[in-house]
Formats: sequence, C-alpha cells, structure tokens
Amino acid sequence: LKDKDRIKIGFSQGMTTDDWRKQMNKSMRLEASLHDNVELTILDADDNVEKQVEDIERLIGDRSDIIIVSPIQSQPLTAVVERSVKAGIPVIVIDRKIGNESYTAYIGADNIEVGRNAGRYIASGIPYKEGKIKIVEIKGLKGSSPAHERSLGFGQIINRFEKLEAVAAIDGNWESESVKEPLRNILEAHNDIDYVFSHNDRMALSAWEVAREKGVENKIKFIGVDGLNTLNGGIQLVQDKVLQATIFYPTGGNEAIKLALKVLRNEPVSKNNILSTTIIDSVNADIMKNQLDKIDRQQASIENQLQKLSEQEKKYATQTNLIKILTFF
Ligand code: FRU
Repeated sequence: LKDKDRIKIGFSQGMTTDDWRKQMNKSMRLEASLHDNVELTILDADDNVEKQVEDIERLIGDRSDIIIVSPIQSQPLTAVVERSVKAGIPVIVIDRKIGNESYTAYIGADNIEVGRNAGRYIASGIPYKEGKIKIVEIKGLKGSSPAHERSLGFGQIINRFEKLEAVAAIDGNWESESVKEPLRNILEAHNDIDYVFSHNDRMALSAWEVAREKGVENKIKFIGVDGLNTLNGGIQLVQDKVLQATIFYPTGGNEAIKLALKVLRNEPVSKNNILSTTIIDSVNADIMKNQLDKIDRQQASIENQLQKLSEQEKKYATQTNLIKILTFF
C-alpha cells in the first residue's frame, strides 16, 4: 500500500455494553483519525456470535483492506476468520482468540499471566492466616478464551500451595447478573470464604454486592480484572476498598490500529503481540490513576486539536469557494 491510498479498516466488536469495550473503540477511533487516509468501520455484534459472523462477512464483502476482530467465543468465529485470510484480507485478532492460528496476528495481554497474577496475589497473603485459605473463582463466558486462560493460569498457581483451597467455581458470562444467584448459594453453604477471584471487575463488584447483602463483605477479599480508570472502574473500586486488587487488562485499541497499518505496509510483525499486565492494589492504585489520567488528558487534547483542524479545514474550504466565486465575476 502506498501512503496516499485510502485504507479501509473494519472492526468487528463483540459488544459495546461495557466501559472496557467503549474504551477499546474510542482508542481505535482516535488512532485511526490521526491518519487521514484511514477509514475505520466498527460493527457491533451485540454479544451474538451469529451476528458477529455476518458482520465479518459484511466487512469482507465491503472489501476492507484489513479486519480486526474481538471474537465473542473462539470456535464459532474460527471459520469466518479463516475465510477472510484465504480471500486475501488479513485479520488481526484482539483480546479474545479464535480456535486456531489461522489469523494474521494477535494483540492483547497474556490471559494466562492475568490468572497467575491473581493467584500470586492470594499466595502472597498465606503467612497471615492459620488453616486453609478458601477461594471461590468466578469465570467469564465459557468458550471465550480469556475465561479459559485466566482460569488455567490461576489454577497453575493455586494448585502449588497446600494451604490454598478452591472451594467452588461459578460459570459467569462476564456480566454482573450471572454472579448473583450462584454466589448466594455458595455463601449459604460456606461461611468461611477468604477470597473471591472474578475474571473481571464488573463481576467482582457484583460478588461484593452479594456479600454485602449477607453482611460478609469485610470478611472476604475480592480480586477482579480490567482495572479501568472510570467511574466505578477497577481502580476506583480498589481505592474505595471494595476490591483488594485488580489485574490490569489493557484494551489494546490504538495498538491494534498501528499493527493493522504495519501489516498493510508489509512491515514485519510478530504473530503474537503481547501487552503488559500488572497487579493494582492499594499500594499503586493512586500512581496508576495519575498515569492513566495523564493519558486521558493527552487523548482529550488530541481530540480537541483534531476537531479544531477539521473546523479550520471547513472554513478554508468555504473561503476558497468564495474566492472562486468572486474571481469568476
Ligand atoms: C469486556 C470484557 C472485560 C474482560 C474482557 C475479556 O467486554 O468482559 O471485562 O476483561 O471482556 O474478553
């Protein structure tokens, strides 16, 4: 691709009901708008795998130059990604994976490492308690790769320690409601739970709410994943002492657009592009917030400048038209 060519990037987003995905879309749009030859189309699958397959077919049909996909579940999206790559349209998979390696490149944090971090955090508290440390794990949607990988990494650490006992697990679906009933039942059967590890902060908050109903929210420590710097996001929940910790999970939105442009320019790219993750707790929550606030301010200022630029372009276009009309007479 020459630099002047118009570049069509299609993004198939699994859903946009939550702030994490809203941030992913926002950072993609911002990065795309920094390149005036890039046209970004985002299709939202509303958490419906059939719709997501159709969305990707549409992006193929519309002759996108490259497609980015955040697959709701792995298996149902594998074939359509394969079709796209075979048809000559490269595919970047972001955050969640498909069932095989037929994609062009993957970008996202290592979800096994996310799970391990949560396990390590709990293991680091071992000396402070007598007897077994009892843990409940709340998983993300079955069939979506972060749910599988976070659980795998978490288990790898937990199983190494005699003192840590996984008492129960809940198959959640990433959303708050899926946690409530099953956790109520677990807390009724066990009054000695020490930790709840939830695969994201939304479900962790929901778990905390259930514990509060039962008056045990201060006996249990809650760990989540995402660490968003938003209202009721993971960082605030840590600062408010609702969560003991959250494992930071970057969206990778702007990095995905940069990666897409590299692929289209035929620059060498890694097949797996791993973004870093880290534990956020009361020790570093303020520092993380400051850093992320700074990034937000920079983003806002870029948006502002882009807005002004486009207003000036419009003004300039009107003036040139006016001059054309005047010089005509
Ligand atoms: C957002 C989300 C995040 C989670 C990610 C996993 O839709 O549920 O909370 O970390 O998806 O793919």
